[in-house]
Amino acid sequence: MIDEVLKVFNKLDAKDFRILTGIETGMKHFEWVPIEELNKYTKLPFDKLEYRLKKLVRDKLVVRTTQPYEGFQIYFEGYDALALNTFVKRKSISAIGDEIGVGKESVIFEAIRQPELAIGKPFPVIIKFHREGRTSFKQIKRVREHLGDREHFSWIYAARLAAQREYEIMTKLYPQVSVPKPLDQNRHAIVMEIAKGSLLSKTKLVDPEWYLDEILKQVKTTYSLGVIHADLSEYNIFVSEDSVQLIDWPQYVTPDHPHADEILERDVSNILTHFFRKYDIKRELEKALTEIKSGAKSGSDNGENDSEEFEEEDSKEGDFEAEEFEAEEFEKATSKKETSDKK
Ligand SMILES: Nc1ncnc2c1ncn2[C@@H]1O[C@H](COP(=O)(O)OP(=O)(O)O)[C@@H](O)[C@H]1O
Ligand SMILES: [Mg+2]
Repeated sequence: MIDEVLKVFNKLDAKDFRILTGIETGMKHFEWVPIEELNKYTKLPFDKLEYRLKKLVRDKLVVRTTQPYEGFQIYFEGYDALALNTFVKRKSISAIGDEIGVGKESVIFEAIRQPELAIGKPFPVIIKFHREGRTSFKQIKRVREHLGDREHFSWIYAARLAAQREYEIMTKLYPQVSVPKPLDQNRHAIVMEIAKGSLLSKTKLVDPEWYLDEILKQVKTTYSLGVIHADLSEYNIFVSEDSVQLIDWPQYVTPDHPHADEILERDVSNILTHFFRKYDIKRELEKALTEIKSGAKSGSDNGENDSEEFEEEDSKEGDFEAEEFEAEEFEKATSKKETSDKK
C-alpha cells in the first residue's frame, strides 16, 4: 500500500506530479481521463506522456483502461503521493517515516516536521491518510447508489470530505479539548501532533478513577462547544502519565442532530462499560450524562450549528478552486525547467 508510495515518491518529479494532478482534476468530469485531456492539462507531448503514464501505472499510482476508450484514473496511492508532495512543498513535513497504525478507515504514518521559524529541533508528527470509501464493499455500493454517475469520484470525495471535517473540528476544539494539535490538511490527509502515551485499550491504568473523570470532563467540554464525538471508545483515546487525548473525529455530530442524545449516550456508555469491565468502577450513566449536559449553552441555539452544512458545501467548492489554483501555480513553477530538459 503506502509503503509502495514511499518507495516511488522519491523517484517522482514535477512532471509526474503534474500528470497525477491532471488525472485528479480530470476525474471531476470523466470516469476515465483521456490522454488528450492530460496533454492539454500538462502540455507534455504525447510520447513523453505515454512514457510517464506507463511508469505511473507500473508503480500502481494510476490505473489504465482501454475500454471503451483509453483513459486513466488515480489510485489511493497516487492521491497519497499528491498530498505528501503538497505537505513537503508547504514545509508541513520534511520527511516521512514508518507506518505506525492502521485504523478502520485510515493509514497512519510518522513524519518529521521542522520547527516554526527554525527555532528548536525537528520533531515527529503523524500523517493520517483517510481511506473512506474503500474499506467495505457494502459502503462502496451504497455510495455508488447515491452518486450514480459520479461513482468514479466517490472515494476521493468521501476520503477528502472526512479529512476536511476532521481537521476543521479538531481546529475548533483545540486547545480547549485535549486533542492532538492539528497542523495541516490537504486532500484526504491530515498532519497532526503525535498523541501522548498509548491507547486506553492497550493500557493498564494504576489510577483509573482519575482517567475516567478526566475523559468525562473532556466529553463535557466538547459538548459545551457544540460537538459530540460519536465514535468514542477505548480505541480512540490516548492516555499518558498526566493526560488523556481524544482522537478520530470525522464522524462527529452536533447537538441538533436528530439522534444526538442517543449518540452521546452511546459514547459515554462505551467509556463507562470499559472502566466497569476492566477496573470494576461503577458509575451511573444518567448521572454522567446530566453532568455532561449541564455545561452546555442553552439548547442548540448557539447559532453555529444551523450554518454547519452550508459551510461544508462552501469549503468543498472553495477547495476545488484552491487546488486548481495550486496546480496552475505549480505549472508556472515547473514550465521553465521543462523547456530546458527537452531531449
Ligand atoms: N495523533 C496520533 N498519534 C499517535 N497515534 C495515532 C494518532 N492518530 C491516530 N493514531 C493511531 O492510528 C490509529 C487509527 O487512527 P484513528 O484516528 O483512530 O482512525 P480510524 O478511523 O481509522 O480508527 C489509532 O488507533 C492510533 O493507534
Ligand atoms: Mg479509530
